Amino acid sequence: MNYKGIIVSAIHQVLRQMNVEKEIESYLEIPPRAQMGDYAFPCYVLAKELRKAPNLIAADLASAIKHPLIQKVEAIGPYVNFLFAKQTVGEEVVNTILASKEHFGDLGIGNGEKVTIDLSSPNIAKPFSMGHLRSTVIGNALANIMKKCGFTPVKINHLGDWGTQFGKLIHAYKLWGNEEKVKAQPIKELLTLYIRFHEEAEKDPKLEDQGRLWFKRLEDGNEEALTLWKWFRAESLKEFDKIYKLLGIEFDSYKGEAFYNDKMDPVVQELADKNLLEESDGAMVVQLNEYDSPPCLIKKSDGATLYATRDLAAALYRKEEYDFAKALYVVGGEQSLHFKQIFRVLEKMDYSWAKDMHHIPFGMMLKDGKKMSTRKGKLVLLEEVLQEAIELAQQHIESRNPNLQNKTEVAKSVGVGAVIFHDLKNFRLNDIEFSLDAMLTFEGETGPYLQYTHARARSILRKGKLMKQDALSYAAFEDEKAWMLISLLMKFEEVIRYSYEQFDPSHIAKYTVDVAQAFNKYYGAVKILNEDLERGARLQLVEATTIVVKEGLRLLGLKAPEEM
Ligand code: ARG
Repeated sequence: MNYKGIIVSAIHQVLRQMNVEKEIESYLEIPPRAQMGDYAFPCYVLAKELRKAPNLIAADLASAIKHPLIQKVEAIGPYVNFLFAKQTVGEEVVNTILASKEHFGDLGIGNGEKVTIDLSSPNIAKPFSMGHLRSTVIGNALANIMKKCGFTPVKINHLGDWGTQFGKLIHAYKLWGNEEKVKAQPIKELLTLYIRFHEEAEKDPKLEDQGRLWFKRLEDGNEEALTLWKWFRAESLKEFDKIYKLLGIEFDSYKGEAFYNDKMDPVVQELADKNLLEESDGAMVVQLNEYDSPPCLIKKSDGATLYATRDLAAALYRKEEYDFAKALYVVGGEQSLHFKQIFRVLEKMDYSWAKDMHHIPFGMMLKDGKKMSTRKGKLVLLEEVLQEAIELAQQHIESRNPNLQNKTEVAKSVGVGAVIFHDLKNFRLNDIEFSLDAMLTFEGETGPYLQYTHARARSILRKGKLMKQDALSYAAFEDEKAWMLISLLMKFEEVIRYSYEQFDPSHIAKYTVDVAQAFNKYYGAVKILNEDLERGARLQLVEATTIVVKEGLRLLGLKAPEEM
């Protein structure tokens, strides 16, 4: 249900009588103060068409617009302010939410079409970095939002499991490796081997050749190389899986770079057939001069393929396999040039769907203002971070509500939710400061605050079970704080659409905070359980709020416990 639409069509109706056709929806504003109205229309937008001063237009519109759901239309200067009929609209909003439940806000934009979402994509034998965490969390929320909008998301974990580094790792393992150690702490041990390889290679450059040789063997399917590689991959995945389990995130595909090993020759051939391939210093490239961009490297002088080659093969494979309507790549801003190049090469290959590909970049995770690094001993182990968040949440719960049932489960939802929400509450391109304390407070704009608000509302509902004989007097919605809450609830659909259009979950995060704050103000000012005629309507509003908050949290990837 689109309440903004009611106002848009009421304005259109009057404009039609004046013989004016104009898109106005994007100009509607939310007035600075709630008493002024629910929406405002700035009439300078029509000044040219109507050849009239905006405040005269405002006066004309205000006197001409009539709609049963609009209680008051008022011209103030060049603005027309619209106030909904609180009782009628409130009743409708609340009952629509109660009837639709978690489907409130569902949009049909996507018609079931597929959207591939390339997310997380950590590198085998390397630590799962903060950047990978951001990609995982943002990508997962986008997948939920896409689904809410009627698309069929396909979550692809494009693992970094191929490339010359695996030749080096195999060689290092054969020289210095120890099976037990790798099994005990796979990523730590493999990383140590990899670092040692580089240190020793400075003294003995022949090592590099050996590394390359082992990668060549791997590419050609040498059994020993393949067995080791598969083992490294499996052990690393086991470790990544622990993080995914904690986050509660699943993937539709783990087809990583290695999967494209036998799918690159055809791509290189196609580039050659289309006359796009050029030699440059012995390497093969696609020139992108016309885009003012450096060339895209397809094959190195030693014949090895590259990250970009695999991404081209992956794009073609995904189009063929999923026939996506859109393809999203949730990858840090450092790779912007890479994705621009990939998309442009596809364009030069004459694939009209190149325009449906989107790189969704995001900012860095900072600690004390500096980039959090997983390299050079400063290794931040993500699993430990999540465990620590869960422990802190556990302590909170222990001190606030020691008798809570399933404490462990709730602590997990709160701890992990805190980390996720902290990531998603800011526009994704912003850098964010990592601080467990800030994430885990129950006040301010945090995951725990939202979860706590939800649990509090659920507890009111448990206490005040709506009774059959409860009369539903919607006069309850004339209350200023009740209406503030309702006018937010009715905007859920609009916010979801906006998040989808901008590929940015933070709109939903901010909105959910707004709803929670409006609810807490309402709760602080009004005796919800008071036995009077309006009690039923108030309880309905509380229940509608829990539905919207829970659904907002779900879209972001957070759980909403019943009790905290
Ligand atoms: N593994 C890469 C990295 O850690 C990210 C891969 C992103 N996805 C892609 N299709 N290139 O930097």
